[in-house]
Amino acid sequence: MKKELVVVIDFGGQYNQLVARRVRECNVYCEIYSYKTDLAKIKAMNPKGIILTGGPNSCYEEGAATCQTELFEMGIPVLGLCYGAQLMNLVLGGKVERAAAREYGKTEVKVDNSSPLFTGVSENTICWMSHNDYISKMAPGFRAVAVTDNCPVAAAECAEKNLYSIQFHPEVLHTVEGSKMLYNFVRNICGCSGDWRMDSFVEEQVKAIREKVGSGRVLCALSGGVDSSVAAVLLSKAVGEQLTCVFVDHGLLRKNEGDEVEEVFGPKGSYELNFIRVNAQERFYEKLAGVDEPERKRKIIGEEFIRVFEEEAKKIGAVDFLVQGTIYPDVVESGLGGESAVIKSHHNVGGLPDYVDFKEIIEPLRDLFKDEVRKVGLELGIPEHLVFRQPFPGPGLGIRIIGEVTAEKVKIVQDADAIYREEIANAGLDKSINQYFAALTNMRSVGVMGDERTYDYAVALRAVNTVDFMTADAAQLPWEVLQKVTSRIINEVGHVNRVLYDCTSKPPGTIELE
Ligand code: XMP
Repeated sequence: MKKELVVVIDFGGQYNQLVARRVRECNVYCEIYSYKTDLAKIKAMNPKGIILTGGPNSCYEEGAATCQTELFEMGIPVLGLCYGAQLMNLVLGGKVERAAAREYGKTEVKVDNSSPLFTGVSENTICWMSHNDYISKMAPGFRAVAVTDNCPVAAAECAEKNLYSIQFHPEVLHTVEGSKMLYNFVRNICGCSGDWRMDSFVEEQVKAIREKVGSGRVLCALSGGVDSSVAAVLLSKAVGEQLTCVFVDHGLLRKNEGDEVEEVFGPKGSYELNFIRVNAQERFYEKLAGVDEPERKRKIIGEEFIRVFEEEAKKIGAVDFLVQGTIYPDVVESGLGGESAVIKSHHNVGGLPDYVDFKEIIEPLRDLFKDEVRKVGLELGIPEHLVFRQPFPGPGLGIRIIGEVTAEKVKIVQDADAIYREEIANAGLDKSINQYFAALTNMRSVGVMGDERTYDYAVALRAVNTVDFMTADAAQLPWEVLQKVTSRIINEVGHVNRVLYDCTSKPPGTIELE
């Protein structure tokens, strides 16, 4: 059976991936192509519908991204969003001009429910606007089907040709009924049956990887994190033992984590692949000796990681492909460029080993958001504790030990963190808090245990709730849980005589302490 496809044409807007994601949520497969893609190529794919995205420019400017009139004459339903809406209108003979007032943010919109685009949508609904230009004259054959106070054509249709345009952004969650509008387009107007599922993603990727790799050899750096684990299993499913996974244990993992990763992916695990574990703990501790500055530690850990990986790769010899577990937010973040200040350098984004001999990179998860990666992980049968693992930074405990990292401090923070995690799970809070961990402060203070004076470390407990990890609130943990964790840490972990809870939100704090 031929798969139903919706093509999203990318004009450079910031929400383009979200458009694709909302379409996938309607159980419709979709692919994103640049506006520069040859129209004949798009036609040959025989899409059930086309969506034109937003973009940063004004469509009437010289050299602005554009499209051909034929795009609207192929008999395929087209939906233009924001820039795409204006462009459709302009190309078909309407007019777009700079608005007197820029319209931005949450806006009330009045929709005409008789348009198939708005079936089931409330007559007055909230949408997310973000535009400088507006459609001042509609192209012949179009009628306005939504308005706002400032925007006479918030949506327009030429139902007879199945052409629709929306000035606002239905793909963002601020547009309260936006998903319904996109559903109406892909399921009702384009007539997609909605039989696409995440398991189809797995099937398609496996097929595509097999075609690409042929009999080639593939190398993957496995960290045990969600993304690299899912990428590795996908590859293993596609090419089996043509895949080698190198797992570098840098000695900065959480308690027992190295063994847990080996259990799942190693020879006794359930996947077909060559698994190499490199126990490089000592190397990392040596490099980190005497270093206490956070960015310096990150840099050392990142570089050493790459060196170890390269050495292993050299032993394997030339490979054809290198797998990266890049997911969509990584693509966006690393594409942000130099405008925003570097608060913390995340070594695992964008860095590539220089001396690994490979021909091409494979990034099977590049188009997915985190929760979609998790869904794929479950489809692939990866154990839940790996799939729902909370984020763990590449430099690991190296940045959860304030000041110099030593083997002794790693052990303290591992033990304290394991107790904390266990008690959070016992209290049934492990699924509801987005990130929580113990860190070792560099503070030593006086205490008394038994009849003895102690002079030991303070452990800091952190727990935050966050949607996007850009801002976060300290979680309000029940006092009993904090007390239990405190007493267990002090009784069970050597060299700790105080436990502190970090109540700082982000900003002004960050999630990690370094
Ligand atoms: P911050 O501490 O910047 O953390 O508020 C935001 C998210 O990023 C993680 N984080 C890192 N991840 N390498 C990583 O791979 C790093 O150097 C790093 N620093 C912070 C942090 O755990 C949180 O999820």
